[in-house]
Amino acid sequence: MAQRQIREVGDDLLRKKSREVEVVDDKIRQLLDDMYDTLKASNDGIGLAAPQVGVLKRVIVIDLGEEGDGKVYKLINPVITKRKGEQVCREGCLSVPGLLGDVVRPKEVTVEALDENGKKVVIKAKDLFAICLSHEIDHLDGILFIDKATEIFDADAEEE
Ligand code: NI
Repeated sequence: MAQRQIREVGDDLLRKKSREVEVVDDKIRQLLDDMYDTLKASNDGIGLAAPQVGVLKRVIVIDLGEEGDGKVYKLINPVITKRKGEQVCREGCLSVPGLLGDVVRPKEVTVEALDENGKKVVIKAKDLFAICLSHEIDHLDGILFIDKATEIFDADAEEE
């Protein structure tokens, strides 16, 4: 169990492009485990990208919880190879506390990546899972949801 500190908007590192992982080794698996612990400790997060914990590597973790298929996705060098349709979602981000935004995302995506053992995986995702994959992969290119949002809201005002 090791949590890492989450970088927040204003931190230049969040705006940098992450590098591809060349070798999937114990160091990368440790990073994935730490990212998972950090995500779980956040309560309401469903995904985390390595730059959010200060590491410029193309690594993401997704756990949709009850809204997903119960699996934890630990993905290395993820690439969107297909996009289909559109949907608008009100998104937040652990690196952008206090704000939500409406973002247009693909309705469905196909993502190719490596798993934590370095094995190639192909994931077909739709709805929330497609949004989350798109959001996390954007982080690897230094893009935050506030760059794409058509409208931005104060998160506190959204609570009932
Ligand atoms: Ni985010």
